[in-house]
Amino acid sequence: MKLDWRAWPRPIIALSPMADMTDSAFCRSVRTIDPIGPVGPIVFREMVSAEAVVRKNNKTLAMTDLHPDERPIVQQLFGSDPDTLSEAARILEAEHRPEGFDVNMGCPVYKIVHNFNGAALMREPALATKIIQKIKAATTVPLSIKIRAGWDDPRECFAFARVIEEAGADLITIHGRTKTQGYSGQSDWDLIGELKSTLSIPLLANGDVHTAPLAVQALRQTAADGVLIARGALGNPWIFSQIADALAGQTPAQVTLEERVRVIKQHLTFHLEQYGAQGVTTFRKHLSWYFRGVSGARPFKERLHMAGSAQAVHELLDEMLSDGLPHDGLCSRDAVHPAAAERVFMSK
Ligand SMILES: Cc1cc2nc3c(=O)[nH]c(=O)nc-3n(C[C@H](O)[C@H](O)[C@H](O)COP(=O)(O)O)c2cc1C
Repeated sequence: MKLDWRAWPRPIIALSPMADMTDSAFCRSVRTIDPIGPVGPIVFREMVSAEAVVRKNNKTLAMTDLHPDERPIVQQLFGSDPDTLSEAARILEAEHRPEGFDVNMGCPVYKIVHNFNGAALMREPALATKIIQKIKAATTVPLSIKIRAGWDDPRECFAFARVIEEAGADLITIHGRTKTQGYSGQSDWDLIGELKSTLSIPLLANGDVHTAPLAVQALRQTAADGVLIARGALGNPWIFSQIADALAGQTPAQVTLEERVRVIKQHLTFHLEQYGAQGVTTFRKHLSWYFRGVSGARPFKERLHMAGSAQAVHELLDEMLSDGLPHDGLCSRDAVHPAAAERVFMSK
């Protein structure tokens, strides 16, 4: 499958990269349950260190494995050395043939920026240009760049986006907050709209698009080519089909308890395929997300967190189905701001 950002059907709806979250199992789950039109959302895999790829670090290489059902995927890289980044992209293209690459030039986390990666690159336009040119020369698939509004001035993105465009990138995604803001305040969709009007390459809007109605609003307000959704997809991989419904003028279908349980079991299966039996422990974060806002689920959540095997998780989910939950287990989460995920991320 070829990814051409200019020709891809509009609006482009995509899963934003999230460290420890948008792994192969989650992306596969999203792609399996949420066909939007003929192809489904495009998934951006979590960032991996270019340096670790080039050093052939086994753990990092395992993070780039992919299942055919995930396609089309975009693999995100972080780093700051143009040769290392381009070599990592070359290695991964030969190994996995992702449909696209993305370079993280927006991450505000200390561990990333203090090595001049992530958002620190917004202060180094010449280096960013070299990175883009070298990756483009080393690979055959589209290259996107993920940025923030700026380091501390939200208008920095205008000059930086021009640099990215002139260097030859194929798409920009922007989270409408500055690095200094972290996750405080709001993603500035008006600013994103203004940036969109200055660019000739496609732009995806990101930040605070947590529900289907918000996606429709963000698309309208920014006139962007699409939206990129991160926290809103945690525990709600149905958000992409809900957006498709909303865009078609329909009320997004509510997720029944049966459907929730079916998808959790499927996601758990994918997760264990990826991580082996010990994956039951790392799956707990997803279980928390899946039951966030589901009334009456709290006692089950506590027991699910103690479950030490896939069978124990399945039995508890089946018990939940047979006992039933208030309001048929429908989730009120559409109105809930999915806080907390960013707190873990920012404290890394
Ligand atoms: C847990 C977590 C991990 C993240 N990891 C990445 C990452 O690997 N690469 C990246 O570019 N952004 C990462 N982000 C940022 C998101 O992709 C997104 O830009 C940001 O959360 C705003 O979108 P949202 O409001 O839809 O969550 C992460 C965010 C969270 C909450």
